[in-house]
Amino acid sequence: MRHTSAIYPGSFDPPTLGHINLVNRALGIFKRVVIAVATNTTKASLFTPEERVELLQSIFKDNPNVEVTHFHGLLVDYARKRGVEVLLRGLRTNNDYEYELQMAFSNKSIAPEMETIFLMTENQYSHISSTLIKEIAYFGGPIKKMVHPLVEKAVRKKIKKPKP
Ligand code: COA
Repeated sequence: MRHTSAIYPGSFDPPTLGHINLVNRALGIFKRVVIAVATNTTKASLFTPEERVELLQSIFKDNPNVEVTHFHGLLVDYARKRGVEVLLRGLRTNNDYEYELQMAFSNKSIAPEMETIFLMTENQYSHISSTLIKEIAYFGGPIKKMVHPLVEKAVRKKIKKPKP
C-alpha cells in the first residue's frame, strides 16, 4: 500500500453519525485517518473549531488510528505539511457531487500530487446534514438518530432554549 494515511477535512459543525460512519469505513482502507477540522469561511458556525476538535477526539478516543486536528488556510497546504496525499470526502446526493467535483478539481490544480477519494455515504445517513441538525435542535426537535450522544448533549447545551 503506497498511502497509509488519508486526511478527512470538513467543518464538522457538528459532526454527524454520517461523518463517524465514513471515518470507520475509511479505516478499513487506510491505516490512519486524520480528521482535519477546517474553518469554513462560507458557513456561520455553532461550535468553535476547538470545540469541534474536542467532540471528535472524545468520540474517537479509543481509536489510536484516528487523529483529530484543526487547520487554518488551504487544505492542500495542510496536507502537504502533514505529508499526506489522499483527501477523503463523503458523497450523499447529486448536489454533493457538483460541489465535491469543483473542490477536487481545484485542489488538484493547486496540488497535482493530491488525490481525492470519495466514499458513498451509507443510505441511512444520506439525508443528514449539520445544518439540518442545528435547525431541528433549534426548534426543539429530536436529533438522537443523527448524532453521537456526546454531540447531542453539546448541541442541546449550545441551543438552550427551544424556540416557539
Ligand atoms: N453523512 C452525512 N452527512 C454528511 C456526510 C456523511 N458522510 N459527510 C458530510 N455530510 C454533511 C455535513 O453534515 C455538512 O452539512 P451542511 O452542509 O449542512 O453543514 C455537509 O455534508 C458538508 O460538511 P463537511 O463534511 O463538514 O464539509 P464542508 O463542505 O463544510 O467542508 C472543506 C469543506 C472544509 C473541506 C473546504 O471548505 C476546505 O477544504 N476548506 C479549507 C480551505 C480550502 O482549501 N479551500 C479550497 C477548497 S478547493
